[in-house]
Amino acid sequence: MTLSFAPLTPTIAATVSGIDLTRPLTPEQVRAIDDGMDRYGVLVFHDQHFDDETQLAFSRNFGELEVSSGAEMSKPEEMRLKMEMADISNLDANNRLRAADDRKRLGALGNRLWHSDASFRAVPAKYSLLSARIVPPKGGNTEFADMRAAYDALDEATKAQVENLVTEHSNAFSREIIGFERQDYGAENQDKLRPVRHRLVRYDPHTGRKSLYLSAHIGGIIGWPVPEARAFIRDLMEHATQPEFVYAHAWKPWDLVIWDNRTTMHRARRYNDLTDVRDMRRSTIRGDGVTVEQVQQAA
Ligand code: OGA
Ligand code: MN
Repeated sequence: MTLSFAPLTPTIAATVSGIDLTRPLTPEQVRAIDDGMDRYGVLVFHDQHFDDETQLAFSRNFGELEVSSGAEMSKPEEMRLKMEMADISNLDANNRLRAADDRKRLGALGNRLWHSDASFRAVPAKYSLLSARIVPPKGGNTEFADMRAAYDALDEATKAQVENLVTEHSNAFSREIIGFERQDYGAENQDKLRPVRHRLVRYDPHTGRKSLYLSAHIGGIIGWPVPEARAFIRDLMEHATQPEFVYAHAWKPWDLVIWDNRTTMHRARRYNDLTDVRDMRRSTIRGDGVTVEQVQQAA
């Protein structure tokens, strides 16, 4: 059976059917998924009964895996999952619901801000693959914003203004928005908070398209006063997350959603995490390189 793609909105996201991702893929199948990612930015697969091993094996078809930032900042005994698996759940290492004042619970609330995964790394993430193992009865959607369509919809003056801007990203900036302070991370993690630089406009030579590279992790624009930079980034965020650019995914157990962090942003929506289990597991593919030296192409 061949893969078929059913678009979910006019510009972003498609449901893919005709494949069991838990089994080894042929190179042609991998290429078809990559092509689908180039076209839609977000792909939804239903009924993919992954365990962690099969999810990681499938993920490796698309490149090198990242170690999750949660794992980098945690002690081994605090971890529920292995290093390459980002724990996007409300459970602790003993599979119990986290309490209201649990620090990891509060840190995870950062996912409610529009972001692009690992944009705080010098080499940021390419794809993220999120597998739904247990979903809450209500709430907990994930929303995706199409950053290529958002770029295309900018007026010409704004396109010219953003073309060569370079932004600074750090986990500390996004966590600051929800009230964390730098010292909350401990002395041993301070170097992981050092800002990295990325282009605000990314160009993909493969598709010939540009995208706005926005994220809650942005705290400044090189050469700009901080308040002006943050006000401008807010304006762009507001523009890019208008309903016409957004696909909202309502999860079913065993959905796998893959998104391209270079061309989309995403955010988690609220659910009752003190009473309802939501067990989601994310594997993440490292990007190809730094973005600041990326060749830009005239439109
Ligand atoms: C992520 C993420 C959103 C969600 O896995 O990177 O931001 O809805 N998840 O859990
Ligand atoms: Mn994320």
